[in-house]
Amino acid sequence: MDLSYILNELGEEREHYFNAVAPPILQTSNFSADTVADFRRKLFNESEAHLYTRGNNPTVTILEKKIAALEGAEHAIAFGSGIAAVAAAVLSQVSAGDHIVSVKKPYFWTDTLMNKFLPRFGVEVSMVDGTDPENYRKAIKPNTKLLYLESPNSYTFELQDIAAVVAIAREHNCTTIIDNSFASPINQNPIAFGVDFVVHSCTKYIGGHSDVMGGVICGARQSINKIFEREYMTLGAVLSPHDAWLLIRGLRTLPLRMERVAATTRKVVSFLEQHPKVKHVNFPFLPSHPQQGLAHKQLRNNTGQFSILLNTEDIARVETFCDKLQHFLMAASWGGHESLIYPMAATYTDSNLKPALPFTLVRFYIGLEDADYLIKDLEQALEEV
Ligand SMILES: Cc1ncc(COP(=O)(O)O)c(C=O)c1O
Repeated sequence: MDLSYILNELGEEREHYFNAVAPPILQTSNFSADTVADFRRKLFNESEAHLYTRGNNPTVTILEKKIAALEGAEHAIAFGSGIAAVAAAVLSQVSAGDHIVSVKKPYFWTDTLMNKFLPRFGVEVSMVDGTDPENYRKAIKPNTKLLYLESPNSYTFELQDIAAVVAIAREHNCTTIIDNSFASPINQNPIAFGVDFVVHSCTKYIGGHSDVMGGVICGARQSINKIFEREYMTLGAVLSPHDAWLLIRGLRTLPLRMERVAATTRKVVSFLEQHPKVKHVNFPFLPSHPQQGLAHKQLRNNTGQFSILLNTEDIARVETFCDKLQHFLMAASWGGHESLIYPMAATYTDSNLKPALPFTLVRFYIGLEDADYLIKDLEQALEEV
């Protein structure tokens, strides 16, 4: 399907709302029926009918249709946050006594779901280094039901070979779920590699303006309908119509923003890579990166995330570098218009002296500013290291 068609027309029924170009925000919790027969039809077909907004809302449906098409999926279901989508997708695939193999070091709350939440319900999780797909195979047990991927991966942006992990999953009758948030649906479509479910935090690139939260699961119609009947309706992590509207608006400019972010990031990375105060840059599109070939195979373009290791052993100098930056906000999240840093040094406290990642690591997200504006800022802050 044509990208322009998906972003501008798909799912929109303008003739039903005065030919308004922007869709209406159907801010209603409830929908009425005209007759008992009509009400009965809605009750027994809630995934398609308009009965109640925790199930179905037409503004949310427009968003779901567009994201499903972007991912090449039959269907999608939207949630109130990315982690709600991750949790519902994972919970939909396991029961007590089952086992999951997950890439290690996924997004923090995914890690918490895997290592703290699921074990309470009798689900066991093994975390593996996903840079070698064989590590997934080695960790599979007779009760393994799910292989979980996040590629690129949080903080250090290593990749998993998606097609290779899918092949292993199929050999062992396991389902695959990938968190595709870091790539965006513009740059990577894992369903084409055979993945069963793709999840996104829509809070990031899809929203794109740091003003809305949302999540989505994409997959086969039958599988998504099953999630609707169980995890979606019972956990109730619904996306509001207003937030769906903001995400539809974000989608209109997604390809333009991704292109701009990619070009600026390449310039910023080139500057940092040759700077003597920078020891290492984690960015899979660098020629020196061991996964550069895989990056070009799986991703259409680079995105705006990378991390660096500063060339110092002194946490105070790392903190000074971060504090001196004028045009990078220090914050969690990413994917908006604004460039950000996330200093790992902030996770070092008196009671947490040995976090998994070094304090010299600074995660970057490059937004929509000019490259030169950002590079000048980095230049002055690096003088402090
Ligand atoms: C890779 C990844 N997945 C999922 C999430 C969770 O998304 P949300 O914050 O929308 O719940 C995040 C949030 O930072 C993330 O970085």
